[in-house]
Amino acid sequence: MIEQLLRTPLTDLVGVRHPVVQTGMGWVSGPRLVSATANAGGLGILASATMTFDELEKAIVEVKGRTEEPFGVNLRADAGDAAARCDLLIEYGVKVASFALAPKPELIARLKEHDVVVMPSIGAAKHAKKVAGWGADAVMVQGGEGGGHTGPVPTTLLLPTVLDAVDIPVVAAGGFFDGRGLAAALSYGAAGVGMGTRFLLTSDSAVPDAVKRLYLERGLTDTVVTAKVDGMPHRMLRTALVEELEESSAVRRMGPTLRRTLEFKRDSGMSWRELAKDGREMKKQQGRTLGQMALAANTPTMLKAGLVEGDTSAGVLASGQVVGVIDDLPSCEELIDRVVTRAAEELRRAGSYLS
Ligand SMILES: Cc1cc2nc3c(=O)[nH]c(=O)nc-3n(C[C@H](O)[C@H](O)[C@H](O)COP(=O)(O)O)c2cc1C
Repeated sequence: MIEQLLRTPLTDLVGVRHPVVQTGMGWVSGPRLVSATANAGGLGILASATMTFDELEKAIVEVKGRTEEPFGVNLRADAGDAAARCDLLIEYGVKVASFALAPKPELIARLKEHDVVVMPSIGAAKHAKKVAGWGADAVMVQGGEGGGHTGPVPTTLLLPTVLDAVDIPVVAAGGFFDGRGLAAALSYGAAGVGMGTRFLLTSDSAVPDAVKRLYLERGLTDTVVTAKVDGMPHRMLRTALVEELEESSAVRRMGPTLRRTLEFKRDSGMSWRELAKDGREMKKQQGRTLGQMALAANTPTMLKAGLVEGDTSAGVLASGQVVGVIDDLPSCEELIDRVVTRAAEELRRAGSYLS
């Protein structure tokens, strides 16, 4: 474990040693990965969108049992029980609340009142401006090369527009895997980097080894962005199933969608009423159609089948393009040490160009 080499507004804000964030990835960012990251000096974020309320509480307790370092929880801002989940973070003294989509201003205010750092993920400068105006402490910006739900603009262009739009710390995500990327992000003016796919491919991630091997075999052009899984652009590994989904009609996809909705209802323990409430909230916040909302129920079960059960015939494997340059499975500690050491070297080298 190395000492602090880079002190940034992110390390100061959150109290971590290194400006490296392990992002919240459904079914992937569990207690083991999060605590390994925290113990290595990075900011680990638990993914709670795929957990029931009780599972989230259990996961928080487990992380706290494995580390005394700060960590975060990623929440779906549009979940019916988002406020109750925020109360859980407050109760357990979780340091960071990360959000997919913008949380409501009241929720931000409540978390901040209790010293929880609020860091929504955003995909456009105008959204960064909006949440900063509502009091967010930092934002994570994910460029189009990133895994999971993603936008069309690459990190190299999105990041500077977000940095120009807000004065709060910005964490850059999408396409990062090594110290050169961290040095580059800091040179842009970011306060750190967030990495998803790179942390999925560590020895500390609980993804089955056979699935990790599938990722390691992939090249730079082996991911695809499809809206056919849940109606939103989603970057994942190109597999036979994804190609089939891309080609199939909406009517043909509806059968499996209904089956997966039933599975999701069973796994999540949610009632039809709660599911419908979540659906209405999604419709209101994201303007999704009914068909898209039904498709949205696909995502958790399809990701589970792929990432937890390793069944690529029924499941999908979310991934960033960065998968094409990753060929090993270091521990979180090895990974963070080498990212930070290399970033410091690159910044020193670049500094030597100054005349
Ligand atoms: C397997 C996987 C699952 C993900 N699940 C979520 C999620 O549940 N919530 C979220 O906000 N982002 C999710 N993401 C996006 C990541 O948190 C992160 O922003 C992205 O992976 C960064 O790009 P990179 O993969 O190039 O590092 C997921 C990404 C992957 C690869």
